Amino acid sequence: MNDRRRKRVVVLISGRGSNLNALLHAAIDPAYPADIAGVISNKAAAKGLESAASHNVPCVVVSEDDYETREDHDDAIDETLRSMKAEFVCLAGYMRLLSPAFVKKWQGRMINIHPALLPAFKGLNTHARALASGVRIHGCTVHFVTAGMDEGPVILQAAVPVHSKDTEETLAERVLKAEHLVYPRALAMIAQGTVRMASGQTMFTGSEEIADPQIMISPGMRDKARST
Ligand code: GRF
Repeated sequence: MNDRRRKRVVVLISGRGSNLNALLHAAIDPAYPADIAGVISNKAAAKGLESAASHNVPCVVVSEDDYETREDHDDAIDETLRSMKAEFVCLAGYMRLLSPAFVKKWQGRMINIHPALLPAFKGLNTHARALASGVRIHGCTVHFVTAGMDEGPVILQAAVPVHSKDTEETLAERVLKAEHLVYPRALAMIAQGTVRMASGQTMFTGSEEIADPQIMISPGMRDKARST
């Protein structure tokens, strides 16, 4: 039988927290299938902690400065996740590599948002690299987290055009809007069980109908010769 309970989700952040905010907003709706049960930050100064507090969501800072090794730090995060009874974990601008042992424990239950259309532009500075490469379409990806950085199976992607006058900032702003749209949607899909990870791949059940049937082409077709 389908488990219709709202699933307990804990979000890991390091900074601004605008994606966390998008998830918190989505979860205000009682019909949303996930409840943001806690937030963990590795930085005490992370701005996202304020958003979490304003939604009365429990927040814990687990700083790497208090642990000798990455594994010890990840163990402390794991314990905190368990104390919060997390069923799923969302990485939302969590700027620290996770140890393979930690990833293994949460594999299939941990997702990340990356500001590029993976597998293009893994890693940092994705918008500057997209501009430098001359791509005309850029975007963001929600994927399951696996041991390889930004390599896990893709759940959802959104594409945005790259304009000729774009700067890193204008492009980042356009992509961020797309991130805020897709992250709550992807979390809803895993919380409802319409998406899961199996044999290293994303398996979809009956979720295709919510895909937007649009192809985005950049630059747009404004060629007068073609319209006559
Ligand atoms: C986002 O662009 C996200 O894709 C990346 O880190 C950034 C975090 O931004 N992983 P915010 O903290 O959610 O505002």
